[in-house]
Amino acid sequence: MNTARVIDGRAAAQQVLDEAARDTAVLCDSGVQPCLAVVLVGDDPASDVYVRNKIRRAQDVGIRSIEHRLDAGTSEDALLALVARLNADPKVHGILVQMPLPAQIDAAAVIEAIAPDKDVDGFHRENVGRLTLGEPTLVPCTPAGCLLLLHQTLGDLAGKHAVVVGRSNIVGKPMAALLLNAHCSVTVLHSRSANARELCRAADIVVVAVGRAGFVDASWIKPGAVVLDVGINRVVEGGQTRLTGDVDHASVAQVAAALTPVPGGVGPMTIACLMRNTVLAARRQTPSFALSPLPTR
Ligand code: GUN
Repeated sequence: MNTARVIDGRAAAQQVLDEAARDTAVLCDSGVQPCLAVVLVGDDPASDVYVRNKIRRAQDVGIRSIEHRLDAGTSEDALLALVARLNADPKVHGILVQMPLPAQIDAAAVIEAIAPDKDVDGFHRENVGRLTLGEPTLVPCTPAGCLLLLHQTLGDLAGKHAVVVGRSNIVGKPMAALLLNAHCSVTVLHSRSANARELCRAADIVVVAVGRAGFVDASWIKPGAVVLDVGINRVVEGGQTRLTGDVDHASVAQVAAALTPVPGGVGPMTIACLMRNTVLAARRQTPSFALSPLPTR
């Protein structure tokens, strides 16, 4: 009976955070404290938890954080005015507007209003374009974290067949671009794919981001594959809420070589990569650091 190695996302995230803390200290020594502005509109409880975790992590690393909490009825114009102020503030290096936004606000308009150099989510079309072109840029945090986990697990990824299950702008599409830039052969599967299970069963690497609990089970996985589970689903069992991924962990562990748990896998890497992006943004906005080499991973 095979039992896959469980990839420790918390330990990997701590390494990324340690590096971000070292880089922050160097910037602080030269008089620049990296600063992340986080904007939360409304009072969605899950978003509130995410924002609090981001601010706590920033503090751990030595990054200054500024929190803007706006009420659920905030107009798009008011939010755009705040983004414009943060864009113009030289002390703010990173801007994150927590999604989802209330229905009266066009999220795409807000994302495009963020200065690309401060877009620590990597959602702006300029950064999406750079990623697609294989140029150094601010990369969306979850796929960036997944790529780090894959390099840590497999080393060089060149020539591997990677399957991404899910085609969201936040995870699936940027993940596919990163894997392609790392010289994988990439297949993206989605709700309209024919023969999704068979295609997935050919993969050396599987990244699952569909938002459906237990969607991928062992029948989708080639023996020896590495599986990353991006899902964070809240399921209620016996009156208790439990977090579970998009992968049926117990069954996939019987065939995969390695897989991430939920919680404690990809999730901690996402926040760590946000800190990394904030430090990177601060360096690129600081003339004496702007020319220092960018990470290639
Ligand atoms: N909501 C859920 N995930 C994210 C994220 O990565 N960035 C932002 N801005 N909002 C989110």
